[in-house]
Amino acid sequence: MRKGYFITFEGGDGAGKSTQINRLMEHLENCGFDVILTREPGGTDIGEKIRNIILDPENKEMDAVTEAMLYAASRAQHVAQVIKPAIEEGKIVICDRFIDSSIAYQGFGRGLGDSVSIINSYAVGEYMPDKTVLLKLKPQLGNKRISTREKDRIELESESFHQAVFEGYETLEKMYPERIIGVDATGTIDEIHDVIRNHIDDLLGL
Ligand code: TYD
Repeated sequence: MRKGYFITFEGGDGAGKSTQINRLMEHLENCGFDVILTREPGGTDIGEKIRNIILDPENKEMDAVTEAMLYAASRAQHVAQVIKPAIEEGKIVICDRFIDSSIAYQGFGRGLGDSVSIINSYAVGEYMPDKTVLLKLKPQLGNKRISTREKDRIELESESFHQAVFEGYETLEKMYPERIIGVDATGTIDEIHDVIRNHIDDLLGL
């Protein structure tokens, strides 16, 4: 039986997820909740090793199916070792990226389609997020925001790839309006935080 809550954050690169995750975490801790913060790909020792393989810009020859399966493998370990136990202990789990990243990046970006959901159903099982915050920012703007940092293998992809990812997220938002909260990421940090906080307070009955 699920006792805690599972909240995920999604969005293109440079949409400001980290800032908003930290703000929400601070709010929930101030309300007295036991919150754990984790991320994908990664979140476990095995997952971090898989992350290094996936994101290494040297791995140019990686096949799209291999990539999708590595993300799913990292996720399976993460659910089993971190997410499931924490939810069952009544904690709130906040995760920076989860299954929707795979559907947007591998399903839409790489063009693998529905097979990505099927692979991931093995990894996720019944542990789908209760709410997903989608920070929406056009890829050109996101790319500008991350232009000064060293890019990983996915961030180095073409503009058309990132556009397909963006459209994938919009499709997911329409498919799952109950779960996915789409937020315009061009607002100020406080404006965006207020929208997210209102939705999450509703979920938690605050
Ligand atoms: P991450 O380092 O979390 O990037 P960011 O800091 O922008 O959130 O994620 C690494 C990259 O992996 C990111 O470009 C998105 C991509 N990704 C996928 O393609 N599929 C997935 O399932 C996940 C979780 C991430």
